[in-house]
Amino acid sequence: MGRIAALRCPQCGWEPVTDDTFACGSCGSVLEVRMDLGHLTRSDVRIIRGSTDTTLWRWFDFFPVKSRGSVVSLGEGYTPLTRCRRLGEHLGMERLYVKNDTLLPSGSLKDRSNSVGISRAVELGFDTVAVPSTGNAAASVAAYAAAAGLRSVVMVPAGTDAAKVTQAYACGATVVVVDASLDGMGTFYRVAVKEFGWYDCLSTNPYRNEGKKSYAFELFDQLDEHVPHWIIHPTAGGAGLAAMWKGYQELHGLGWVHRFPRLVAAQSDAAAPIAAALENGSATVEPVAAGPTVAESIRVGNPRALGLRALRAVRASNGAGVALTDEEILEAQGLLSRMAGIFAEPSAATSLAAAARLRRQGVIRSDDMVVCNVTGHGLKQVASVAVPRERLQPIEPDLDALRETLAQESSTRPVEEK
Ligand SMILES: Cc1ncc(COP(=O)(O)O)c(C=O)c1O
Repeated sequence: MGRIAALRCPQCGWEPVTDDTFACGSCGSVLEVRMDLGHLTRSDVRIIRGSTDTTLWRWFDFFPVKSRGSVVSLGEGYTPLTRCRRLGEHLGMERLYVKNDTLLPSGSLKDRSNSVGISRAVELGFDTVAVPSTGNAAASVAAYAAAAGLRSVVMVPAGTDAAKVTQAYACGATVVVVDASLDGMGTFYRVAVKEFGWYDCLSTNPYRNEGKKSYAFELFDQLDEHVPHWIIHPTAGGAGLAAMWKGYQELHGLGWVHRFPRLVAAQSDAAAPIAAALENGSATVEPVAAGPTVAESIRVGNPRALGLRALRAVRASNGAGVALTDEEILEAQGLLSRMAGIFAEPSAATSLAAAARLRRQGVIRSDDMVVCNVTGHGLKQVASVAVPRERLQPIEPDLDALRETLAQESSTRPVEEK
């Protein structure tokens, strides 16, 4: 049984009396779950690693869900950790790994959070779950709600492209279009959650925030208990960085690891408040007005709930923040597809773009073990890859015409050397 020791404010230590309180009653910070892991011993490593469970729930004791019977699972977690030799050689990294979260059930890392968060919603007796989102979070919440038999409500800003909400709608979500921007609808969303008694699936939910600890646990297992030198994470609200750090701290507290990875916040330069704070040595994360970027899924200018925790995690790990141009991001997306066979959305490729930059700068050394979390499927944003019109023109079924096409293709498309 996953044992929750307490919900507690990491800023001031305040503890609530009910387990469906998410914000600190004293300072307003998002509460944090403290797990009681005292019953685990070294022999549990063998038991966990030997389990036949192929999902993140192999680590059940580390997640804030009391009964296995409440778990809502679509098979999330334990995504491939692929050693990308060809891509690594190209970029000068001997041990480059991709944690391929494009293969999660709804196609993005959000499933790690929502499997845990929505399992807890079931346990707490909620009948409706909600999230304001135009993309990955909406699709994931809708999928897990569908599996659990809960209603899902997804709030999207006016002007959102229908394609963006199709996945959530298909999974039965009630899509509510609000005449405001995503940032601007925050207050209205919070008022609605309170008024209707919905379960909040944002990073303001401490249970859901535990889900991405699974990165630490899976890497520990998949790397045979080794800790990589670097883990690079496409960063928006900061949940991934904060949770990975917490996961490694839990493993360290048990004496199962003896060192920590250096964490890197990979952001788009159009919305890079965490990378900027790391660069400036700032003690706080200053919100920025997010500009346009191809990295749509991580375009967050004000990571209010967890930005500070992410900043502290990266700093404590002796890590770094990298703000990437769209050009670097698209280049990385192309390299991932063409040299590793992994089709990622642009946001998800920021981790590889950051690895390439840090390697060029000599911050990452050629023999460092580097893990890039690749967090969302390329099919989420197909428009980011433009297939040239002429490529879609039919040719005669004739060998000479085919030869001409093949010759044209090799002269116009980049083919990276081995
Ligand atoms: C594809 C993708 N990658 C990464 C993230 C990063 O989120 P976080 O910083 O909250 O871990 C998000 C979510 O916003 C996302 O959709």
